Amino acid sequence: MRHKISAIKAREIIDCRGFPTVEVEVWVDQAMAGRADVPAGRSTGKREALDLRDGGKRWGGQGTQKAVRHVLEVIQPALIGWDPRDQRLLDAELCRLDGTPNKSKLGANAIAGVSLAAARAGAYLSNLPFYKYINANAHVIPVPLVNLINGGKLTSNDLEIQEFIVMPVGARDLLEGLQICYEINLLLRDLIVDKYGKIAANVGDEGGFAPPMSGVTVPMEMLSRAVKASGYADKIVYGLDAAASHWYDWDKKVYRMEGEEMTRDDVIGMYQKLCSQYPIGSIEDPLMEDDFEGFALITKKLEGVQIVGDDLFTTNAEYIKKGVEMGAANAVLWKFNQVGTLTEALDAADHAYRSGYGVQVSERSGETEDTSIADLAVAINAGQIKTGTTRSERTAKYNQLLRIAEELGSQAVYPGRNFRRPI
Ligand code: PGA
Ligand code: ZN
Repeated sequence: MRHKISAIKAREIIDCRGFPTVEVEVWVDQAMAGRADVPAGRSTGKREALDLRDGGKRWGGQGTQKAVRHVLEVIQPALIGWDPRDQRLLDAELCRLDGTPNKSKLGANAIAGVSLAAARAGAYLSNLPFYKYINANAHVIPVPLVNLINGGKLTSNDLEIQEFIVMPVGARDLLEGLQICYEINLLLRDLIVDKYGKIAANVGDEGGFAPPMSGVTVPMEMLSRAVKASGYADKIVYGLDAAASHWYDWDKKVYRMEGEEMTRDDVIGMYQKLCSQYPIGSIEDPLMEDDFEGFALITKKLEGVQIVGDDLFTTNAEYIKKGVEMGAANAVLWKFNQVGTLTEALDAADHAYRSGYGVQVSERSGETEDTSIADLAVAINAGQIKTGTTRSERTAKYNQLLRIAEELGSQAVYPGRNFRRPI
């Protein structure tokens, strides 16, 4: 039986940082069938689709009333009467209505909201949990990347590297994995308070601590002390999101860490040293976002380490193809709204898998209580998810994953050390 979209509603809501964002509802046969919120980045890549903001005085220029209007006045009339389960056609129509390469006419936030809300409506109409609607073979519960120390653009400290992460690869299942990470987090808090005082235990945008640190030695040492104290050293590996574009000096073409200028070779040498000192399983954006060649070099030099492209690939099959041809990175960070539609993001993941690349599903630094990425991570059998530490907009995703794991029961696979190639 065909179901028809009878209305598409959109509104401004507030994200976890206090900025507005877009929420979309797809109504079918006069009832709400699917709702989705669009998250927002702060440490964004320059090749991402455009998150349309109003400018002007209101909300410091961050308003999303234009994007909301585009949903109501341009997208809604075009999609009334469509079946939301025709996702591929519907997403193609959204791209056609926009007509620009980076979705700058209607806004990727308007488009991503409609695309995801339509998918959720499709699941509702099919009477299926969201992850199962996307993929009947969904069964991998991802290893979490819990970013315990935050820096870069997501905090107000001077730490250049954006995220210092633990991955519970030796856990039996997700719940045990979370237990390990959060026990380490509590021990880390004590170490931070001892050294810097209790004000330093405040957290950054993604819920990890943001103490007054810089460089790599101090944060890695403190994190590893907490890990040792927890007794779980053999059950975790470390991860980093260097977000290197944001400590790269674009004018002088050098990296800057703790006041020192560093060449690409110096930076690669720094990671090599770190990897010899600590069991590091994953490094995201180790170099700046235009340096595909450097990514190829580091992927070769750090054999066995997952090298993830976030700002490098922006979840876009075109850049993933370029990366694959050059051997740049061996995994893709997957943020569906970086490219704008669910179909394009699913295609990007397929392309990555078929090229032997891993896929790491990710939060944005500006999130809401929408937990869709938890379902999507299971749906694409990604094997890994990065969705923060404390703060409810982060833990909501873990909690949804725990519900899904329970529902899947003995079908669920927690890939542990095989997070990059879970199936
Ligand atoms: P975002 O980036 O601020 O663009 O969400 C977070 C990240 O770099 O992973
Ligand atoms: Zn990143």
